[in-house]
Amino acid sequence: MRMYDMIYAKRHGEAHSDEDIREMIAQYVAGEIPDYQMSAWLMAVCFRGMDDRELSTLTDAMAHSGDTVDLSLFGDHSVDKHSTGGVGDKTSMVVAPLVAACGLYVAKMSGRGLGHTGGTVDKLTSFPGYSVTLSAEDFLCQAQNVGVAVIGQSGNLTPADKMLYALRDVTATVDCIPLIASSIMSKKLAAGAKSIVLDVKVGSGAFLQSIEEATELAQKMTAIGRRCGRQMAAVISDMDVPLGYYIGNILEVKEAIMTLKGEGPDDLRELCLTLASQMVSLGHGISLEEAQKLTKETLDSGKALEKCCEWIAGQGGDASFILHPEKFPEATCRLELCAEEEGYISQIDTTAIGRCAQILGAGRVKKEDEIDLTAGIRMAKKTGDYVQKGDLLAILETSRGETLKEAERCYREALTISAEKPEKRPLVFAVV
Ligand code: URA
Repeated sequence: MRMYDMIYAKRHGEAHSDEDIREMIAQYVAGEIPDYQMSAWLMAVCFRGMDDRELSTLTDAMAHSGDTVDLSLFGDHSVDKHSTGGVGDKTSMVVAPLVAACGLYVAKMSGRGLGHTGGTVDKLTSFPGYSVTLSAEDFLCQAQNVGVAVIGQSGNLTPADKMLYALRDVTATVDCIPLIASSIMSKKLAAGAKSIVLDVKVGSGAFLQSIEEATELAQKMTAIGRRCGRQMAAVISDMDVPLGYYIGNILEVKEAIMTLKGEGPDDLRELCLTLASQMVSLGHGISLEEAQKLTKETLDSGKALEKCCEWIAGQGGDASFILHPEKFPEATCRLELCAEEEGYISQIDTTAIGRCAQILGAGRVKKEDEIDLTAGIRMAKKTGDYVQKGDLLAILETSRGETLKEAERCYREALTISAEKPEKRPLVFAVV
């Protein structure tokens, strides 16, 4: 394999052999291919694409470029989920204990928040004492005893993706469907679950805006997973409006707990049940109807809430906060935003809402930034709601009072208020 030939072939739309793809990834991780050549190849992929076989081989090679997790002790009963990223997306906090309470194993590595989207690992650190780093042995032991273990990503998982992602970030090659698919799926394959359910977000808070693009990404990712021996499903869900009403770490944990107690918002409950029933159907090999019945009964019986307490306590966290969420610290500064005009909220720039939460301190701009776990937004109105002048739109919360002015400007700019009632968008567009 000569990198020059790989670039030339891809530039002319030719398919690579599996052997060449594997060698290219191995050499790149070993530092034997310079970034300028890899950048040229990535750009050629953006224009020429990759066929399903090439893409599966690339993803498998990336998945095996570092450590992998062996979940074989759970047989066919290990399940994982992944969201392509959104605002107010706290589904993992509900879905993981719910699916475990249905008798499956969720041994999951989650990310930290970066940019306008949040991360499960940050939310979990809201529980005093919760450990997001466990040894491989303790991770498996927690998953086996409780059914749920959620930790941060291990240092040497998919180094090829880390290197390629950093390069894509500076060479305008991030928003390329085959490269996104291989990046996400390499991490999921390395994380070891037999069944994987993907939540592909579409809309103003997602990085894909059209349902066609989201469907293509979902099809590519499910095809890769199936070729690599995993059971796959992908849900295409709406991110044109934040999920639920709370955004920010402690606030999202509180909304997830409300959902586990049967007191959460409808959209969050519906999406959690949709994702969980897909996972239960794949993991137990039962029909979707049976899985829907089981997940709904398990959620409504309080067993998922109990499982959540076991999970948090098992990883050293103070589970009394689940039964008494008033124990969580609150932000010291609050600002109530009221409507300055009358009309329907016809559109929300959800990325800007995520950015507003980030300005308040809920998210990071740079990897090393400290986050304010108490910071965030309680939305009072969402797309389709009618507001009178003076009605409450949202409450901004932070322990860094100096951020409020800019956050208010950002929030107001994100809303479009008009006389026309907008058409209602579905929460789930399709399952692939
Ligand atoms: N998330 C990833 O992990 N990789 C991408 O390329 C895009 C989103």
